[in-house]
Amino acid sequence: GPSGHLRPEGAPVTVVAHRGASSSAPENTMFAQEVGRRSGADFIENDVQLTKDGVPYLLHDTTVDRTTDGTGDIRTLTAAQLDTLDAGSWFSPHFAGARVPTLAAQLADLRTRGGSLLLEVKRADTREQVAAMIDVVRAEKMTDRVFVQSFEPRHLRWVHELAPELPLGLLRSTLDADPVAVAADLHLTSYNPSGAALDARPGVVAELHRAGVATMVWTIDSATEWRRYDEYGVDGIITNRPAELAGWSQAR
Ligand code: G3P
Ligand code: CA
Repeated sequence: GPSGHLRPEGAPVTVVAHRGASSSAPENTMFAQEVGRRSGADFIENDVQLTKDGVPYLLHDTTVDRTTDGTGDIRTLTAAQLDTLDAGSWFSPHFAGARVPTLAAQLADLRTRGGSLLLEVKRADTREQVAAMIDVVRAEKMTDRVFVQSFEPRHLRWVHELAPELPLGLLRSTLDADPVAVAADLHLTSYNPSGAALDARPGVVAELHRAGVATMVWTIDSATEWRRYDEYGVDGIITNRPAELAGWSQAR
């Protein structure tokens, strides 16, 4: 269901729009968010990291090189500098002028138009940097519509200390020996493996369910694979094609 918790028997899978709807609009922009939202996705997934002056922005890579007309590590750029970059032209001239959004602008938009965020803490070296992200979620009054995920356990420990009400997901590209124990240790709501990691041991979904922990798999874009993970019993699927997944899921 939309809360990202355990999926009731027969209910459609939770649809998560990866970096927005990044097959049809430039990733991590307001355009991608809007397409993802209209596709019927339960969550928009975005990557969050801080500028030189400590402002949370949506960006996947550590540098702006691939997804904007600028260059450099985001840690060396101020918010004012980031605001001058074009984050759409690299994808298509149709999106020229798209900006790198602040987390605040994105959350304000979701609050107004409706929608929830799967916020990936992408790079944060200190608890204070994670706190800066949480502060924005609180300021935008979105704590009831944000789910946090990260590949780094320490990020999740910091979030749990700072905002224990926020649901947590751990991203994994290979499975832990004992995912249930990891989930208990980190207070996880969801354990989020790559498709390949889950294929190595599909039974882990049921193990996690017995412990009350959900599973959201990434990043899955074909109907053949949607069927396979649906059969494994996953609660959510993170995809670049949210409209197609929502349609497929509801038609079943
Ligand atoms: O949400 C899963 C996925 O986003 C993790 O990998 O590199 O796309 O952030 P990445
Ligand atoms: Ca991500």
